[in-house]
Formats: sequence, C-alpha cells, structure tokens
Amino acid sequence: MKNLTFLNGDQMPVIGLGTWKSQPGQVFNAVKYAVSAGYRHIDCAAIYGNEKEIGEAISELIRDGVVGREELWITSKLWNDSHRNDQVEDALKNTLVDLQLDYLDLYLIHWPVAIKNGIGFPKSGADFISLKEIPLEETWSAMLKMRDMGIIKHAGVSNFNSKKINHLISVTGAVPEVNQIELHPYLQQTELVDFCKEKNVHVTAYSPLGSADRPTANRDQRPILLENQVVVDIASHKGVSPAQILIAFAVQRGISVIPKSVTPSRIKQNFEAKDITLSPSEMEALYGMDEGMRYIDGTTWTIERSPNTLESLWEGEY
Ligand SMILES: NC(=O)c1ccc[n+]([C@@H]2O[C@H](COP(=O)([O-])OP(=O)(O)OC[C@H]3O[C@@H](n4cnc5c(N)ncnc54)[C@H](OP(=O)(O)O)[C@@H]3O)[C@@H](O)[C@H]2O)c1
Repeated sequence: MKNLTFLNGDQMPVIGLGTWKSQPGQVFNAVKYAVSAGYRHIDCAAIYGNEKEIGEAISELIRDGVVGREELWITSKLWNDSHRNDQVEDALKNTLVDLQLDYLDLYLIHWPVAIKNGIGFPKSGADFISLKEIPLEETWSAMLKMRDMGIIKHAGVSNFNSKKINHLISVTGAVPEVNQIELHPYLQQTELVDFCKEKNVHVTAYSPLGSADRPTANRDQRPILLENQVVVDIASHKGVSPAQILIAFAVQRGISVIPKSVTPSRIKQNFEAKDITLSPSEMEALYGMDEGMRYIDGTTWTIERSPNTLESLWEGEY
C-alpha cells in the first residue's frame, strides 16, 4: 500500500474508508470487513453520528488480533459547534471515548465555519457565530495544543482554501498537515492542490466517487460521476470498475482518497484500485473533465442571515 509520509516519518495509507452516511447498523460491519480486507485508514467525524459503532469495530479488531492500534490510521474531525479554544479538548475527548482510542492519528477542523454549541446543522442565521467572534486561528491554536499534549499525532483542516491556510500559518507559524477537500475529475482544484504541495500540506480527496448518496442528490440535479462516459470507457478498456478509475486517478495525483461504502464487494474493489496504473493518455482524458463542479457546495453554511457567503467560504480569507 502506498503511503503519504509526514515530516516526523509517520505514514498515512493513501486509500482509506469513508464513513459519512454509513448507518450505525452498517458501519460496524463495514469497518470490520474493510480492515480484514487490508484497509488501515478510516476517516471519521463526530457529526457523522456513528463513531461509537466504529469504536466497537476497532476495539474488536484489536482484541481479536486482526490489527494492532499502531498499524491503524484513524482520522476524525472537530465539529463546527466546538470552535472556541475551551471547547476543542472536550469535543476531542468525546470522539476518543466513542472511538475507544487514547489518541487520534489525525484531527481536522471540519469546516471554516462556526456555529453555536449543541447545533448540528444550522436552521437560521441565529445559529451561526461569525469568524470575527471565533477566528479560525483560535481553533487552530487549540488543535495545536491537542497535538502538543499527544492526544492527536497530527493536526489539519478540511474545506480550507489557500488564503485561509496562509492566514493560519502567518498567525501561528504552524502549517496544517492535511487539507481534506472535495476532489474528483469534475472538481480538480489544481491551484489549491499545487499550493498545498508547495507548503507541505498533504491533500485528502473526499467524495471521490461523486457522493451519489449525499442528502441533496435527489434535488440538486448534478451529473452522476460514476456514469460519466470518459470514466466508463477507461474502466471498460482496462476491465475494472468506474469507481476504481476514480480512486486510481486521485492516488496517481499523489493524493490520499477516502471512498465510502458499506457494501463488502465495493469496499474490496475500492481498495484493490491501489494496483491500477493509468496511462498518460488516460490521465489526460480524466484531467480534461474538470468543470469546477462541487457536489458538496457549502450552501448549508450560507443560508439567509448567515455571516458566510459562498464567496467567503470558498475564496475568502475569513
Ligand atoms: N471533510 C468533509 O467535509 C467531507 C465531506 C464529504 C465527505 N467526506 C469524507 O469522504 C468520504 C467519501 O465521500 P462521500 O461519502 O461523500 O462519497 P463517495 O465516497 O464519493 O461516494 C459514496 C457512494 O458511492 C457508493 N460506492 C462506493 N463504492 C462504490 C463502487 N465501487 N461502485 C459503485 N458505487 C460505489 C456508495 O454506496 P454504498 O455505501 O451503498 O456501497 C455511496 O453511495 C465520506 O464518507 C467522508 O468520510 C468528508
């Protein structure tokens, strides 16, 4: 398995299992199956509401000797309702209790957006807190403290643009170790990926298969990535699946990738994509698909009277 190597030598396996929307009744089996099939990297988040079941699966896998804790790479994410410096440690500790772990390999600020404590998803402008009130550097400094305490090995961000990353670096001097962002052939974010490479920020691709089970899929009318003709043609030519082509595309860009599935046969084939090499002309055809199109468009954070706009979220420093 290929890995991304951190400055201290730690290695994150390039293919991990995504767990957003994996129901509590399903995610236990998905994680157990994935680790038995060779996965060593699981992507979690408090807001996914399933960390307890993931914790039970990890605990059983370790107890049964399938894997050692030190062989696993477990990522989780700080939810937007716990951005104040005195809230980060409690949020992290809740995640650690649920996952039955005493440290995380990687902890990310989930979104550059703050909401009131106890809110899952905002329903009105009153549920938000502006980034002037809780600046991102306050949250980032608290993340760094968690790293200093040793309860997270690595600290990073998610859904951050280059201006926001530069801002964190200029205020704290500390570079986020990972930026987890939406990436696939329809949304290649080449400038942001190049910026991250230059700054030594590893990139992880979320929704790499086009997130067909996203909550807005029925109403947002976006094209189905797995059915794109370029992807389907390359897959049939190579005798592999469209999903495997999309995963190989990310890996070949030097990016880690976290496809979600609760279906054993898909979990297995997604992992096997590590062995696929795309030719220069296949890569070129996939590079030709960029439309700058997001499946996770951020409109959850820009409802009426929110302090955020799509411009401030995706392009702004604050
Ligand atoms: N940081 C963030 O803000 C953020 C945002 C979004 C996602 N994420 C992370 O990224 C992970 C992946 O993104 P995602 O869940 O949005 O979407 P995704 O991985 O692009 O797509 C998941 C969908 O693809 C299906 N699928 C999986 N493997 C397949 C295969 N081989 N063939 C056909 N269909 C397949 C899954 O179905 P089944 O499960 O039914 O098999 C599910 O419907 C998330 O689970 C989460 O961990 C992070």
